[in-house]
Amino acid sequence: MESQPSALPPSAPRAVLFDAYGTLFDVYSVALLAEQLFPGQGQRLAVLWRDKQIEYTRLVTTCNDGAHYRPFWELTRAALVFAIKSIAAKDLSTLGNGQFDAQVDQLMNQYRHLSAFPENRDVLTALKARGVVTGILSNGDPAMLGIALRSSGLDGLLDHVISVDPVRRYKTHPDAYALGPRTTGVKAAQTVFVSANAWDALAATWFGYRTLWVNRNGQPFEELGTPPTRTGTGLRDVLAFFPD
Ligand code: LAC
Repeated sequence: MESQPSALPPSAPRAVLFDAYGTLFDVYSVALLAEQLFPGQGQRLAVLWRDKQIEYTRLVTTCNDGAHYRPFWELTRAALVFAIKSIAAKDLSTLGNGQFDAQVDQLMNQYRHLSAFPENRDVLTALKARGVVTGILSNGDPAMLGIALRSSGLDGLLDHVISVDPVRRYKTHPDAYALGPRTTGVKAAQTVFVSANAWDALAATWFGYRTLWVNRNGQPFEELGTPPTRTGTGLRDVLAFFPD
């Protein structure tokens, strides 16, 4: 009889896929610059920007069989323009077009180099030491993911960087989640999908992944009857799936 290729029981997880924006990269780290540009409104702008960005991914995925798909970078810019117009409507009449565009460019440039959460490197290193296959599965397009990984020094620490861009469907579409097992060769049931976005952790659970919801801010989970496999407060909690 052939021996098992590893000491792990057959159903033990063998891979971890991370969401990127919100999970590895802090999407709200733009609030500081937003506050400088729009005093008293920075936090609101950051939240509105993020919510609108996710709303746009759902719009283009669900309408007309994906005919309106645009890469995540473009949707992020469109969402920012919407958010600025929405919070600073009064001030805009006094801004020239050049100044408006400069503010958009400044914030988009900040988004390109978002702060990474400090525990990322240690957790990725610990997973590698345990022989776990690692990757990102993100709505981000390949160019923006590459820049974010390089500027946060995380490139080289992940086996796979998977963007939904080739299938032109954003999470939570099953075609997007299916890219994980297709790329890594590890079944969803043996892959831990890690997200700080509750909706993403829920949809990944529905898809068939094991999931860790990283609840950094003590938020309630989605009220749709399915819990994530585990809930943690930071990325480090993924290590509980892989006891020494
Ligand atoms: C991502 C978005 C959902 O990285 O944050 O996929």
